[in-house]
Amino acid sequence: MTSKVLLLSGPNLDLLGEREPAIYGTANLDDHVSTAREVAQRHGLVLEHLQSNHEGVLIEAIHAAREDVAAIVINAGALTHTSVALHDALAAFDGPVIEVHLSNPAAREPFRHTSFIAPVANGVVAGFGGLGYELAIEAVARLLEEDA
Ligand code: DQA
Repeated sequence: MTSKVLLLSGPNLDLLGEREPAIYGTANLDDHVSTAREVAQRHGLVLEHLQSNHEGVLIEAIHAAREDVAAIVINAGALTHTSVALHDALAAFDGPVIEVHLSNPAAREPFRHTSFIAPVANGVVAGFGGLGYELAIEAVARLLEEDA
């Protein structure tokens, strides 16, 4: 059976490419998803992607992932810094979870220094721009291989 990896994108990431390009770059979300999908395919993984500006939609996607998804890569956007509910949903998911950010939140405003995702993630990739998506999928592939 082919392993599925779910890439989740939170609020405002649908505006990538137009939104604060000096911080987030000029590539749009489709570009990042394509990159992630290519890396996943190289490792024999199938990537599914969902972007939502609504916390509940992301939570329900995590619940559904409990059925048949091997690993989750999540850029929760600003919900990273606020959402206990996303934290709890991810805690109920058994496979590897990788948190990814284009920017490095730790080097930005103090309100970005707390992540509610990090405590339930295997690891965090932040500050590498689009390369972060490649690194996150590489990490997932490695973790799934180790588990096999
Ligand atoms: C972000 C960082 C968050 O602090 C911010 O709210 C975002 C994008 C990133 O990818 O760098 O929306 O997750």
